[in-house]
Amino acid sequence: MKILITGGTGYIGSHTIVDLINNGFEVISADSFLNSDGSALQGIEKITGRKIKNYKVDLTNKEDTEIIFKENPDIAGVIHFAALKAVGESVEKPILYFDNNINSLLNILDNIVKYGVKYFVFSSSCTVYGSPDKLPVDEHTPIQEAESPYGRTKQVSEMIAKDVLSNTNVKAIMLRYFNPAGAHESGKMGESPALPPLNLVPIITETAIGKRDSMMVFGDDYNTRDGSAIRDYIHVMDLADAHTKSLQYLIDNPKALDYDFFNLGIGQGVTVLEAINAFEEVTGEKLNYSIAPRRPGDIPAIYADYTKAKTLLKWNPKRNIEDIMKSAWEWEKVRSN
Ligand code: NAD
Ligand code: WQD
Repeated sequence: MKILITGGTGYIGSHTIVDLINNGFEVISADSFLNSDGSALQGIEKITGRKIKNYKVDLTNKEDTEIIFKENPDIAGVIHFAALKAVGESVEKPILYFDNNINSLLNILDNIVKYGVKYFVFSSSCTVYGSPDKLPVDEHTPIQEAESPYGRTKQVSEMIAKDVLSNTNVKAIMLRYFNPAGAHESGKMGESPALPPLNLVPIITETAIGKRDSMMVFGDDYNTRDGSAIRDYIHVMDLADAHTKSLQYLIDNPKALDYDFFNLGIGQGVTVLEAINAFEEVTGEKLNYSIAPRRPGDIPAIYADYTKAKTLLKWNPKRNIEDIMKSAWEWEKVRSN
């Protein structure tokens, strides 16, 4: 079965391609390299022995996007990862984010309907929940006012997909990721962004390897067990597995809802200081960090209740924060060589 992965040379897309290939799917990718250097294509080949065709296409371009579907009339499913994802940048450049994330989605959905694609899986985010009143967060937790244009694109994208695909034969799943981190355990692939990373785990590994002199812990005065903020870090290969299982669920269950959404986290909150400790313990490296004021826009705590994904998708994340740090560090050492 042929699956189109948009954003397939990006961080989560490339890891998902590996998992899909290992589960017998045929995969093609569409990625303009807006935020990737393309090296993941070699990583995928090293790990799976397969060369993946990537269409170097800006998915906001209607004509170029349709070419992919014209040339591949047998696409059965699309997993749509392609988007810009930097929260801070989205505040400075909201038009860029709305244009890129919404127009690419519209073009993809248009072709999905036109070319009779059966399955659609979308990368959403826990950011749709804002700062929740109650933890853990399940899928009944109310969606809150978006805290950034990026967050708004995810909320609106979920609604657009629902509206466009209702009364069609396409079945859709929205996956709300918590904090993806880590790398493929082979050390052959991981996050290789074109722009400097802003997330905690790559900042930790870049500091330890010496690319950064030191790093900051943003806030030690939250009402949490050690004062630093709590997140639900999910290993990228567990996340990849959830995408394969989502497709499989739609394929195996003709009676599955036409539109559904799932939280993907491991259900355990980890503080920033605990994450740093985990890194130091599994790698033996000492991290140079200092305490800084809270980062504007950050929430104190969020973690997932993933019972729904566990029950329906039969998805059980296997890796913890130590596994995340181990694999991220192995990848950092390879990447920096
Ligand atoms: P990423 O930047 O590594 O990958 C996205 C890929 O999409 C990049 O390779 C980029 O070049 C490509 N792309 C972007 N716009 C494009 C366009 N118009 N045409 C063609 N290609 C385009 O990001 P990621 O971390 O792999 O994230 C994948 C998806 O998951 C995104 O939709 C993101 O918003 C979502 N998400 C990510 C996180 C996270 O923390 N990484 C958390 C929740 C949700
Ligand atoms: C995690 C924790 C920081 C860097 C973002 C998006 C969210 C989703 C996932 C896409 C926070 C702290 C970080 C540093 C630190 N993405 N931190 N020092 O902000 O939870 O979520 O990525 O959908 O929408 O907002 O992730 O990795 O940036 O931060 O102390 O140098 O680490 O303050 O508490 P975040 P993050």
